[in-house]
Amino acid sequence: MKEEILSHLSPRHPWREQLQWFDTVDSTNTRCKEMALAGAPHGTVLIAGHQTAGRGRLGRSFQSPDGQGVYLSVLLRPDCAPTQLMHLTCAAAVAACDGVEQVCGLRPGIKWTNDLVVGKRKIAGILTELVHGPNGMGAIIGIGINCRQRPEDFPGELRNMAASLSTVTGRDVDPIALAAALVESLEQMSRRLLTDKDAIMARYRADCVTVGQDISLVRADTVRRGHAEGVDDSGALLVRFPDGHLEAVASGEVSIRGMYGYIL
Ligand code: BTN
Repeated sequence: MKEEILSHLSPRHPWREQLQWFDTVDSTNTRCKEMALAGAPHGTVLIAGHQTAGRGRLGRSFQSPDGQGVYLSVLLRPDCAPTQLMHLTCAAAVAACDGVEQVCGLRPGIKWTNDLVVGKRKIAGILTELVHGPNGMGAIIGIGINCRQRPEDFPGELRNMAASLSTVTGRDVDPIALAAALVESLEQMSRRLLTDKDAIMARYRADCVTVGQDISLVRADTVRRGHAEGVDDSGALLVRFPDGHLEAVASGEVSIRGMYGYIL
């Protein structure tokens, strides 16, 4: 599989040498974290056919059935302080949309902060994590994309809110070709990450379908209703509450329910 992925990449792609394939792995993000702590370089890419313990945001699991999706993590080592990376998850989401558009000819929307949606259904999720070790800081971007599942393949609780790219496009979407397109789009994004923040956030705002929607903010066991008015430069959601005040909500421990009715 590794050779097949490499065959889709340009011969001089700077991350070719650091790309690893796993038939099965617990979680590409977990492995990538371990490798980052052990000193792995910028551009380390891990791609799996199957994950036995795929992880999502807020401690949730990510279903990763064999051969049906893209399960990919990349390690970046940007030369900056972590406070300069507030927009990282937004940048990753835009790069993921670019990869999907390249292969499928269809551009997903982004449900704040970093779920890709088509219509009312989630087709992909992103988990970004920072690590600090003896070799400095590492930023891990993990992307999981549903490619080949049929509606009945999703477990009951996901069936009404998830879909695969094959279902929404009506064509088979090859996880290998899509993984290669993501490696290309993520590498391009990584070169612009620190120099082109404004342009990246402008693209994020254009893709974000949450803005303009009435939403519920869910934090632990509290739910607050509001209206999403925008996204600031750090990626926080600007929410207007019924008493008129505007709050910048960072993604952290918060999930939103909105037009899609699902909690993420
Ligand atoms: C979410 O939907 O909350 C985020 C899902 C992120 C899933 C990807 S799959 C590759 C990488 N490895 C993981 O364990 N998680 C991410």
